[in-house]
Amino acid sequence: MTDITAPDAWTAVGSAPLLTGTTVILTGAAGGIGATTARMLAAAGARVALTDRFAQTLAPVAAELGDDAFAEAIDASDRAQFRGFVERVEQRLGPVDGLVNCAGIWETGSFTELEEDAWDRVVRANLDTAVAGCRAVLPGMIERGSGSIVNFASTSGEYGAISPAAHYAVAKGGVIALTKTLAREAGPHQIRVNAVSPGPIGTPSLIGGTTAEQQASVGARTLFGRLGRPEEIAAACVFLLSPLSTFVHGHVLRVNGGSLL
Ligand SMILES: NC(=O)c1ccc[n+]([C@@H]2O[C@H](COP(=O)([O-])OP(=O)(O)OC[C@H]3O[C@@H](n4cnc5c(N)ncnc54)[C@H](O)[C@@H]3O)[C@@H](O)[C@H]2O)c1
Repeated sequence: MTDITAPDAWTAVGSAPLLTGTTVILTGAAGGIGATTARMLAAAGARVALTDRFAQTLAPVAAELGDDAFAEAIDASDRAQFRGFVERVEQRLGPVDGLVNCAGIWETGSFTELEEDAWDRVVRANLDTAVAGCRAVLPGMIERGSGSIVNFASTSGEYGAISPAAHYAVAKGGVIALTKTLAREAGPHQIRVNAVSPGPIGTPSLIGGTTAEQQASVGARTLFGRLGRPEEIAAACVFLLSPLSTFVHGHVLRVNGGSLL
């Protein structure tokens, strides 16, 4: 099995797919970025464990990956459910080497006019899912002295949301603080903790129900003048899990077409 945090693991590059022999958990696996990431993780050689909220949206993604993928619907913000999921993944696929906390929801709303439950819902989906995932896998990773975690931040978490979405920006800012703090705690155990920070990506959750003009105007915020593609985020996840990044730690990797310079 490849130890994805071993300093000399990069020597495996070129001789086998980057994640060969590793077990990787992915949350939000039924989503626009998640489903693409699931495919790319499997193509990179990982044994993948997929989770999302609803079995019916998760099933087609799992089916594409065949019998090697383990899939189960859970609420990833629920710490007990996440712990149980990790136990079942380890029975089925072996110790967890990597975790990608991709689950999240995008909602907008003026701060003063938010419905009573909107704040909690958005923070739960975007921040508590990452907290639950990290708490569920870290004890085992610490015991083994190896592992890599990729959290999902956002441009909004770095400099505030452009659309009114304080709850989302605060949750993603929290993910960045969580990532850096856990990097300090877990680094001495040779566990890497990083985040990707996507710019606008053309998934249904961002562009569903919008016109071509509205999409073009969001894409124009990037220096390439276009929306990003889910593959461009999935590739960053594979990089951060892989032996190509064994000295990348506590980092927030912007994948945003130069939106924030
Ligand atoms: N699309 C973008 O432009 C963009 C930009 C910045 C950051 N992001 C982040 O990237 C990630 C994926 O975004 P996407 O565009 O693919 O969104 P998406 O809505 O298509 O996918 C997110 C998935 O997370 C799942 N999810 C939400 N709450 C969950 C919970 N409690 N338990 C389990 N699963 C849960 C949803 O069911 C969904 O399938 C999110 O964290 C999002 O905030 C996206």
